[in-house]
Amino acid sequence: MFGPQGAGKGTQSARIAEKYGIPSIATGDIFRWAIKGGTSLGGKVKQYVEAGNLVPDELTIETVRERLTADDCEEGFLLDGFPRSVPQAEALDEILAEKDRALDAALVLQVPEEVSLRRLTGRRVCSNCGRNYSLDSPPEKNWTCDVCGGPVTPRADDEDEEAIRARLRSYHDTTEPLKVYYGEKGILREVDGTQSPDDVFSSIVSAL
Ligand code: AP5
Ligand code: MG
Repeated sequence: MFGPQGAGKGTQSARIAEKYGIPSIATGDIFRWAIKGGTSLGGKVKQYVEAGNLVPDELTIETVRERLTADDCEEGFLLDGFPRSVPQAEALDEILAEKDRALDAALVLQVPEEVSLRRLTGRRVCSNCGRNYSLDSPPEKNWTCDVCGGPVTPRADDEDEEAIRARLRSYHDTTEPLKVYYGEKGILREVDGTQSPDDVFSSIVSAL
């Protein structure tokens, strides 16, 4: 699944994972947890993630390659935010071909830039489990997560408008060409991300 920042990838991937009983693998989450945990991967990606720049392909591809070897991927998986460039898409095809597997669908959530900006400035995230909230739909109690009780705060890369704009630019320049890449393979599924979260989810289920 791909789409511009704030399109609702994280919001919808949690629902898709639950409905289909598959793991949702978000490279952005893996990188943020690595940074928070102070791991060696975290040290390598911190400068890119916090500035809103793409992490180099090689590092990202190796991270996904390793994650896809886990047992929970055997019956299927959802990738949220990967691939995000044509070289990453080609690498993913190779990784899957080695396992005699292929993608069923490439889902793109579409929203215009002003919707991205509005959603990101209003987004709040549980820094423990990653669940999404927003100023319009806060947790029940005092900015603590409804699910795990963790603190719900703005994401570091949402606090700087220049970092948000950098992410949107890199989406248009580097990620959007994936529409052509997957369109030519006949697996592109486009969904209007400006609808309510429930309606976006219904559209995704029908598209799949
Ligand atoms: P990543 O974590 O993937 O961030 P992103 O691409 O900037 O996308 P977001 O997570 O901001 O948006 P989203 O579509 O998930 O929206 P959400 O559901 O949260 O990547 C972060 C960084 O990691 C990158 O900048 C890069 O450095 C690195 N990285 C990651 N993958 C990489 C890769 N493949 N290659 C290289 N580098 C990589 O929703 C946003 C808000 O809107 C929330 O508040 C939500 O509640 C609200 N909302 C959602 N849906 C709706 C709706 N339908 N109506 C109203 N509000 C809604
Ligand atoms: Mg996300």
